[in-house]
Amino acid sequence: MTGALAEAAPAKINLCLHVTGRRDDGYHLLSTLVAFADVCDTLHYEPSDAFSLVLDGPEAGALSGEADNLVLRAGRRLADAAGILPSGRLTLIKRLPVASGIGGGSADAAAALRLLSRAWHLDGSAGDLPSIAASLGADVPMCLSSGPAVASGIGDILDPVAALPPLHMLLVNPRRPVATPPVFRARTGPFSSEIGPVPTESFDAFLGWLSARRNDLQDPAMTLEPAIRAVLDILAAQPGCRLARMSGSGATCFALFDDAEITAVAASRVGQAFPGWWVRPARTSMEVAPPPG
Ligand code: C5P
Repeated sequence: MTGALAEAAPAKINLCLHVTGRRDDGYHLLSTLVAFADVCDTLHYEPSDAFSLVLDGPEAGALSGEADNLVLRAGRRLADAAGILPSGRLTLIKRLPVASGIGGGSADAAAALRLLSRAWHLDGSAGDLPSIAASLGADVPMCLSSGPAVASGIGDILDPVAALPPLHMLLVNPRRPVATPPVFRARTGPFSSEIGPVPTESFDAFLGWLSARRNDLQDPAMTLEPAIRAVLDILAAQPGCRLARMSGSGATCFALFDDAEITAVAASRVGQAFPGWWVRPARTSMEVAPPPG
């Protein structure tokens, strides 16, 4: 494949997520710690005069027209900003479940911006990539940098946390898609305070801090999708589980463990007990993962 390029779109994990307010336009103000896992979709590019997208991979069948459009929309916005015509044959290998709280569509759009900037040799001439990212969705800017960060605003203001300890986690999705807007709408009660500074001196200090925080969308999401509670109960019951929580607006949940071996044991137990669930052992990565294969 002469001229082929590839870019990973890593899963985004909200390790905690506080809803701190609501704007007049209906968007919610957040204070959230995000990290990115070495589990990803992959976007491939081959030169072609036409601009097109092919979907492939185990989760491609679940994609709605809306979700795949975000990749093409990202490309068209980037080309507009650069004053060129979009071109190239994109192939999206979809491995992350759709509508699952780990950023899939946003990660794919961010990967498209990174990939096409390289493929089209834009060298910054398309202007401000983060603002193009922000115009595509609240989570796209954090997926553009794909590194650990505290996000505020509607999730678009990023403060990198470079020294976050590497985390071993098990990701589990009960294969029930959950749309984000109804989960935000189902949230009630007072708003939370900001999550505050993240202690990074040790895993135990970090875990103590994280345990005292929460995901404010977890209860409303569980009301709308009861399978989330089942996932959290199973994760919390795994030997060595240090914390189990939902990511984003669900339904994917994560459990943190001390090391890769105990994570793998839990992955195999949960996978065998629930063959219909999406179960992936993962590690957080400090930067954008290289595309597999
Ligand atoms: O920006 P994005 O398209 O990812 O957001 C999807 C929906 O999630 C929004 O239309 C809104 O209903 C909700 N949302 C929100 N507050 C945020 C992010 C998303 O209310 N900070």
